Amino acid sequence: MGGIEFDANQLQRVQTAYDLMAEEYDILDHRINPFYVNGYKVLGYFVQKLSPHWRGRTVLDVGCGSGLQTVQFAPQAKHVLAIDISRALMRKVQDKLKAQGLTNVTLLQGNATQLPLQDCSVDFVSSYGDVIGHIQNYEQAIAEMARVCRHGGTVTLEYDNKWHLGLLYQFRELRNAITTRRRGDLRRWTYEYLNHDSKVNLTYKTFTFPEMQSLLNRHGLTVTQRAGTHILSSLIPDKIQDPPKERLPLKSYQVWFLQTIAQCDFHLKRLFPFYTFGYSAIVVARKE
Ligand SMILES: C[S@@+](CC[C@H](N)C(=O)[O-])C[C@H]1O[C@@H](n2cnc3c(N)ncnc32)[C@H](O)[C@@H]1O
Repeated sequence: MGGIEFDANQLQRVQTAYDLMAEEYDILDHRINPFYVNGYKVLGYFVQKLSPHWRGRTVLDVGCGSGLQTVQFAPQAKHVLAIDISRALMRKVQDKLKAQGLTNVTLLQGNATQLPLQDCSVDFVSSYGDVIGHIQNYEQAIAEMARVCRHGGTVTLEYDNKWHLGLLYQFRELRNAITTRRRGDLRRWTYEYLNHDSKVNLTYKTFTFPEMQSLLNRHGLTVTQRAGTHILSSLIPDKIQDPPKERLPLKSYQVWFLQTIAQCDFHLKRLFPFYTFGYSAIVVARKE
């Protein structure tokens, strides 16, 4: 796919990268990280909008990270199961649960492709934050989410979208996208750590909507809702909205500008055709 491959030791690389990110994962400040703050606003909206499907029920949070969605589910869910490959991030979830006095969460350290749960044992599966694109065997992860979800239950995912407006000036990515036909391509994400002097390169998979839809359909899941995040803001270069350390913190006029565009994106998130060009996409599916 466009010359980029998953790393031979993809799982290990992802685990190490996120372990090292744990201490700085929750620096969700507009002056430091507007891209993530704006993205989490849309995810928070969806968690709340979907609450009739998970309130009082059993929720599975796949790739829970530091627990940003886990702690939104826990106060109103019956039981939350949260799984992640990163032990260091799981410790962050534990700290949040303790601080908030939440006792109905079970933490499972492990791989999304092998969920240690019974068939049809949960009501609602959430996997937000582009977890699926990090996983080489992404179809197995979707198969597992579908397996553990009960019939009539809900699976919701956020994934990186193959076609987003930022490709208009990212010529190498555009070329890879065009030459990879009928499915998402593989891209490289470089993360620069804030707390130490290093960077990590991770390979991730993007998806087209028809590709994601047919993956879900193959495992008995039918898409009922779609949305997009970072729609107009994907036109803004990364060095401005996810800036390198030497440009931090952002100036207040830069924050104002990014927040204004993000506000437009928030209004466009469920509007066709805008959501089809978001940097990320959210799908909600029903298990038949
Ligand atoms: C961008 S973070 C999203 C975390 C969280 N849901 C959020 O929105 O902040 C992606 C997460 O996926 C986890 N992850 C990646 N591959 C995984 C796998 N195979 N099994 C379980 N978790 C995985 C990473 O450790 C990381 O915590």
